[in-house]
Amino acid sequence: MSNRTVPNDLSAFWMPFTANRQFKKAPRMFVAAKDMYYTTADGRQVLDGTAGLWCVNAGHCRPRITEAIQSQAAELDYAPAFQMGHPKAFELANRLVDIAPEGLNHVLFTNSGSESVETALKVALAYQRVKGEGARTRLIGRERAYHGVNFGGISVGGIVTNRKMFGTLLTGVDHMPHTHNLSKNAFSKGLPQHGVELADELERIITLHDASTIAAVIVEPVAGSTGVLIPPPNYLKRLREITKKHGILLIFDEVITGYGRLGTPFGADYFGVTPDIMVTAKGLTNGVIPMGAVMVSSEIHDAFMQGPEHVIEFFHGYTYSGNPIASAAGIATLETYKEEGLLTRGAELAPYWEEALHSLKGERHVIDIRNIGLVGAIELEPIAGSPTKRAFSAFVQAYEKGVLIRTTGDIIALSPPLIVEKSHIDTIVETIRGILKTLE
Ligand SMILES: Cc1ncc(COP(=O)(O)O)c(C=O)c1O
Repeated sequence: MSNRTVPNDLSAFWMPFTANRQFKKAPRMFVAAKDMYYTTADGRQVLDGTAGLWCVNAGHCRPRITEAIQSQAAELDYAPAFQMGHPKAFELANRLVDIAPEGLNHVLFTNSGSESVETALKVALAYQRVKGEGARTRLIGRERAYHGVNFGGISVGGIVTNRKMFGTLLTGVDHMPHTHNLSKNAFSKGLPQHGVELADELERIITLHDASTIAAVIVEPVAGSTGVLIPPPNYLKRLREITKKHGILLIFDEVITGYGRLGTPFGADYFGVTPDIMVTAKGLTNGVIPMGAVMVSSEIHDAFMQGPEHVIEFFHGYTYSGNPIASAAGIATLETYKEEGLLTRGAELAPYWEEALHSLKGERHVIDIRNIGLVGAIELEPIAGSPTKRAFSAFVQAYEKGVLIRTTGDIIALSPPLIVEKSHIDTIVETIRGILKTLE
């Protein structure tokens, strides 16, 4: 069967985070992609306004990455991940340390953002224990946070629909308030001015539980999946100060903000704040092969390197941790980013992106526009009694008009590949403008 053949029975595949019945009545199928565009099953070009799912940062089907995967598959397809090694995983780890914020010198590999989150939380708990602080078992997340879909991630995450079906989740978790404030910060360009005091809520939570019971705090530098919630200036710095003061680890979930999305290699660079642990995935391999990487400080890593040398230091890992083909894809992706300056290209385009997005202010239904680096969001007034319907309808119309956007709640979220040109930005914005004019 050619990969351009459209299957005629869609019932077997229970699709992830998808309105399955709606989709299967009117399927939206991509069969090919190149650079900024997808090709649909009926032969139309669709401009990628979302880098796939925030992951295809270098654009689609880039030759260097494709070739690296092909030749690695032919040379060494798989090597056992436990007690054996292969050169590419070590090379990729070294290259990641080179671009990571100073001090994050060690890398654990995973296969997704969700697994990276679980790995980070487990490292944090185990670290506290190996350094003799085993009473530090609590984890603190934030409202409206997305940390993937596994149990640790949904426990520290703050999305009600992702949590409410799954019992009691992890115990000992608390949440800080989110920083989204439409009444004070609507239509901010870049960082919103109000809300730095919300970081002090962490002090309140620490007072309630006592610092000696808390292992780590996890936040996305910019919350992506819940609609691009950008922190006010100094908010993350304040979290860093508070966590440091109380011996609590700070974890940045950079699954979206990593690999150039904000115009800097990582969100940590953008905000000038270095966490103890950094969670990444998505852009690590340009979305092409599933892979995640968790970067940790030497202090954390070294604390585990004790006891008899033949004993495993950390009882955690995946069959596919540092898989050879994923590692080859990661190396080729980082080379592509370097060669084309993509880890910082977003900074050059950010002013144009900002102006283009904010030109939608005043269009029907628009109650907020937000932007940072090459990320943007347009928040719509929900239809009374039918939340999410208006934005979903914008998503379907945009697809029909040849632009892929993403919606979450009644928020349109945008994050084009970092190879985007100004003309593409114009197309994305003007297509959305046209849709807003006719949207119910
Ligand atoms: C901040 C953040 N963490 C974790 C994840 C989960 O990643 P994955 O879907 O690869 O498991 C995502 C995915 O969007 C994310 O945005």
